[in-house]
Amino acid sequence: MAILLICMFVLGIYMVDLPKGSDERSWYFALHKSMGLTLALLAFIRLSLKFIFKSPPLPDEVTFIQKKLATATHNLLYLMMFIQPVTGYISSSFSGYKTKFWGVPLPHWGWKSPDLNELFSTAHQISALIFGLLILFHITGAMYHIHKKQFHLFKRMWF
Ligand code: HEM
Repeated sequence: MAILLICMFVLGIYMVDLPKGSDERSWYFALHKSMGLTLALLAFIRLSLKFIFKSPPLPDEVTFIQKKLATATHNLLYLMMFIQPVTGYISSSFSGYKTKFWGVPLPHWGWKSPDLNELFSTAHQISALIFGLLILFHITGAMYHIHKKQFHLFKRMWF
């Protein structure tokens, strides 16, 4: 999911500058939407598994402040995993085009509204900025554990 998410940022920033009406732009937009909706599904599975199995507690060597920061960052990352695709999907639903999921058209409940499209596009951009900053903060945390030679903490993020 981390790799896919980073690809989504690169894809999103790249595709918005492509010439309007070009086949290339439509292709990249369709890919971005399908990947984003797939990530939303994966986030749902991920959150369900977290509720069922619960994360192991953080060891005592992690300070109180670090625990608070880590928990807040993780909770916000989960929230953004939903806000990001939802704002994109709503913005797309008011674009006047049908949203397709890997080629399959989804029920088209929206209508062509430049104002609503603009509003949710802006929300999508702001949430991308917040999400991006959180990911950077999360990576900084991981790097800190490596720097402190706390490899067992870093391994919690791995397989
Ligand atoms: C976790 C998932 C997602 C990430 C990280 C993401 C990220 C981004 C980023 C960084 C941009 C470029 C913003 C800009 O510079 O203007 C963008 C644009 C866009 N995304 Fe996403 N996106 C995600 C999911 C989705 C989904 C699910 C849809 C629709 C079904 C979608 C639709 C769009 C559209 C239409 C644009 C271009 C116009 C706009 O800003 O609204 N995105 N996305």
